[in-house]
Amino acid sequence: MNKPKIFITRKWPDAIEAKLKQRYDVTLNLADRPLSAEEFKTALQEYDAVCPTVCDSFPAEVLNVVNKRCKILANFGVGFNHINTPVAKQQNIAITNTPDVLTHSTADIAMTLLLMSARRGAEGDRLVRNKQWQGWSPTHMLSSNVTGATLGLIGFGRIAQAMARKAHHGFDMNILYFKPSPAEEYVIDDLQATRCETIEELLQKADFVSLHCPGGDATRHLINADRLNYMQPSAHLINTARGDVIDTQALINALKNKQIAGAGLDVYEAEPNVPDELLALDNVSLLPHLGSATLATRIAMGEKVLSNLDAHFSGKPLPNE
Ligand code: DGY
Repeated sequence: MNKPKIFITRKWPDAIEAKLKQRYDVTLNLADRPLSAEEFKTALQEYDAVCPTVCDSFPAEVLNVVNKRCKILANFGVGFNHINTPVAKQQNIAITNTPDVLTHSTADIAMTLLLMSARRGAEGDRLVRNKQWQGWSPTHMLSSNVTGATLGLIGFGRIAQAMARKAHHGFDMNILYFKPSPAEEYVIDDLQATRCETIEELLQKADFVSLHCPGGDATRHLINADRLNYMQPSAHLINTARGDVIDTQALINALKNKQIAGAGLDVYEAEPNVPDELLALDNVSLLPHLGSATLATRIAMGEKVLSNLDAHFSGKPLPNE
């Protein structure tokens, strides 16, 4: 019997590509070239499964292509706001993702950005590299305490809770969260976490605000100029969720005017483009979407995709639909 035809949109870890080759008739993207909408349409017409990542857009215009062969988009990543899910459903295309395995690496990056922003890590690194450091002084590059400060999490799913555990048990931080319904009792007890009734309440009270809600229309510009006004001038904003959760221009203005102390960003509205105005600011720490970028995590994500593909092609329930 012919093996199912699988299309992988970007370069994956070698170990996973080797397994894909054993099990499927797979087309890889060894050059890791970003592909166009036309190439995605052709892939939907020619392959049984297409495996995209966060940087591959599947809007209605692509999903509605005629004569489709593809019955599953097995996404390499947990977020799926780059896929128009209602249209995929109409078109009888299943969608799977890779939850759980990237929780800790993403929470680690959120904590990294929090520390970088609080302690001016990126700015200090630039100073040393540019040979501008004049030596130690009691008032040089003073920054904010992390230990004992208050962390407010907007969205309180797996990644937010993992960050809260690191912050509370490792850095003695007080935990606030905003989520429409209260978290489970055992989570609240473990973290001594307090739920805020509104986002505004959390923004007013937190020294560090970390975003953990999904991207998409419902959360687009959730943090806008109006909401940034609620943050304390000493507070920092951390985003490892999706770029469009923040109105970038409003954030640039708030950072320029010192309305907030700093920000740490791993995600951007128009990745990989980062506005020059943001690049010019010293009080923002910038990472290139590294949340899940450890080798072990990327291999685990690949394993998840494999198990979703294997289930799909053997007619079993999809583990991560
Ligand atoms: C995801 O999985 O959605 C991440 O943003 C990619 O690491």
